[in-house]
Amino acid sequence: MDSALPPPASPHRLPAGQQPGGPFTALAPMQDVTDLAFMRVITRYGAPDFFFTEFFRVHAQSRPEKHILRSIDENETGRPVFAQLIGEDLSHLARTAGELLRHSVAGIDLNLGCPAPKVYKKNVGGGLLRDPDRIGEILATLRAAVPGRFTVKMRIGFDSTDHFDRVIDLVNEHHVDLLSVHGRTVKEMYRSEVHYDFIARAAARARCPVLANGNVTSAARAAVILDETRAAGVMIGRHAIRNPWIFRQCREQFAGQPVTPVTLGDVRDYIEHLFRATQLPGIPERAHVNKMKKYLNFVGQSVDSSGAFLHDMRRAETEAELFALCDRHLLAEPSRLFAAEPYPGVIARPNCETPEAVTDGCSLESVTA
Ligand SMILES: Cc1cc2nc3c(=O)[nH]c(=O)nc-3n(C[C@H](O)[C@H](O)[C@H](O)COP(=O)(O)O)c2cc1C
Repeated sequence: MDSALPPPASPHRLPAGQQPGGPFTALAPMQDVTDLAFMRVITRYGAPDFFFTEFFRVHAQSRPEKHILRSIDENETGRPVFAQLIGEDLSHLARTAGELLRHSVAGIDLNLGCPAPKVYKKNVGGGLLRDPDRIGEILATLRAAVPGRFTVKMRIGFDSTDHFDRVIDLVNEHHVDLLSVHGRTVKEMYRSEVHYDFIARAAARARCPVLANGNVTSAARAAVILDETRAAGVMIGRHAIRNPWIFRQCREQFAGQPVTPVTLGDVRDYIEHLFRATQLPGIPERAHVNKMKKYLNFVGQSVDSSGAFLHDMRRAETEAELFALCDRHLLAEPSRLFAAEPYPGVIARPNCETPEAVTDGCSLESVTA
């Protein structure tokens, strides 16, 4: 062993990925999306290496939300789950981390990115990126409270990238085990271009593995982004809702194998499974159909270039109407290919990304681009 090398940033190894030596894949944490049902559905089509929960809110009165705990306790996907926290109170962050460590989590993740004004105004999530000193205190507290893996998910700044290097240095100083970087500032929300140069800068400067996040739209794009950033893996959010095969396709791409295409018939199967998996007892049919529309906003971006599927989908009010239009659009030519990339110009919901539209954390309505 070369004694001139610095000691590893952290003694906590990451859980093994499914592709030995290959880049990691992770499903991005998404509030109201990455619950137990969705993790199960994704696994059916090819699980990511790592899951992250929706964020657990941390404050004086908070207790880990039961529905989020289910995605850890009842998770039989076989893949590790990191529990994400959002908050800024040191003692309650440490307490919540301790509570979550009694469950079978792969690690504790800190949210330094949520762009919802209601959230950042409380100086949590993305709001903390304005205050690197406070980030340092939080990282020190959580590092001391978490004997195992402690991870961070960050944006590249609040309204500028002035503190970026400083935050990465804090990540190093506090021996963070994994860093996910969404390559936008908080003020850039979800639709701007992604600054992959900053993800590359994080990968070069951080002593832990970095996951590249933001607009990883396909396996081919994942390979390009990894090449460009030298990140250790990719974290994928909205494009895994659109295409749940994306993690399996990434593994094929990384292994130099042909990427298995997805057909419209496959997509019909996905929609059916998603519908059944997310159906809750007592929820009226109309409400469930409306919930499905939020996922289908993304799916529709790769069905046709005219947006006809999205147009019809938005008008469905009943389960029968929803599946009738799915049959019309997806089973007329079931072997036709579902586009690997979203069709340009097929926008899931135009004009929805105003700060006013973002009311509570990250909502599906506010981030469909
Ligand atoms: C509906 C929705 C909810 C989100 N909730 C969270 C969250 O709870 N925690 C978090 O760190 N990021 C959250 N995000 C941000 C994603 O994890 C990810 O950083 C972002 O969507 C960019 O990646 P993508 O282009 O692959 O979607 C959310 C995003 C969406 C679309």
